Amino acid sequence: KKHLLSVDDLTADDVATLFATAAEMHDVQRRQVKKLPALRGRTIINLFFEDSTRTRSSFEIAGKWLSADTINIAAKGSSASKGESLRDTVRTIAAMGVDALVMRHPASGAALQVSQWVDAAVVNAGDGTHEHPTQALLDAYTLQRRLGSLEGRHVVIVGDLTHSRVFRSNVKCLATLGAEVTVVAPPTLMPSGVAAWSAEAGFATSYDLDAVLPTADAVMMLRVQRERMSGGFFPSAREYTVGYGLTRDRLGVLGPDVPICHPGPMNRGLEIAADAADAAQSAVLDQVSAGVAVRMSILYHLLAGED
Ligand code: CP
Repeated sequence: KKHLLSVDDLTADDVATLFATAAEMHDVQRRQVKKLPALRGRTIINLFFEDSTRTRSSFEIAGKWLSADTINIAAKGSSASKGESLRDTVRTIAAMGVDALVMRHPASGAALQVSQWVDAAVVNAGDGTHEHPTQALLDAYTLQRRLGSLEGRHVVIVGDLTHSRVFRSNVKCLATLGAEVTVVAPPTLMPSGVAAWSAEAGFATSYDLDAVLPTADAVMMLRVQRERMSGGFFPSAREYTVGYGLTRDRLGVLGPDVPICHPGPMNRGLEIAADAADAAQSAVLDQVSAGVAVRMSILYHLLAGED
């Protein structure tokens, strides 16, 4: 059974194939031909133990446009809130006859664990601070459409790296496509162990956004995840914005064609100013739109033709 649990599951050829299909799906979106019959008769469950706007709804739309039956289950309102274990929950759902389980969970490794318990294809829609592979794919797809190729292009990822599964998937996906990546964070939000990992994986790290920004071909701002900071937030919001926010002044440093990405949801005024989020060069809504096409491609390649 095929799953998508991590960017590590994908070769450069796999990514190219997914993007080629996503481009066709994007065309379908643009032409408003909403239903393709590819997944008729398939059942996809979106099982979300954390809140989501973009990922859950775009997987639902993607499944529906491919004619699959899609069902959303949130932990709130399910028997998980009565204490049912994750194993019992997913085995119960699988016993109903499910082809794919799209899953978000606060524990790192949850999607891999579930893939060992069920026969359905499992798609990781975010597991703790580990990975968010479909987000990284849609980010890279969006940047590739803006920049042509990512080979040798300098992508700067800025923000709360400690808590970011988007960062962890993106550095791998962007490296697969040949991009030069620099990640920037204050020391308190730089993950421990990043020095060894960056040396091995070939990305750079910096605490100085202003030194890095002038050489950026693309900028990806990440959300400050205050809900995951049990020990408070250091630096303060004000200090964070001064040191690491994409402010109006820093927007002026970027060339007019440098795409500005943010996976959402955005903390406007904290990590990104409204001027940057809404700038002509902002790719934020392109990312959302690409998310449907890329997720259609992922579901298609996982499920089409399967018995
Ligand atoms: N980018 C992202 O995962 O957004 P949601 O939490 O709204 O799904």
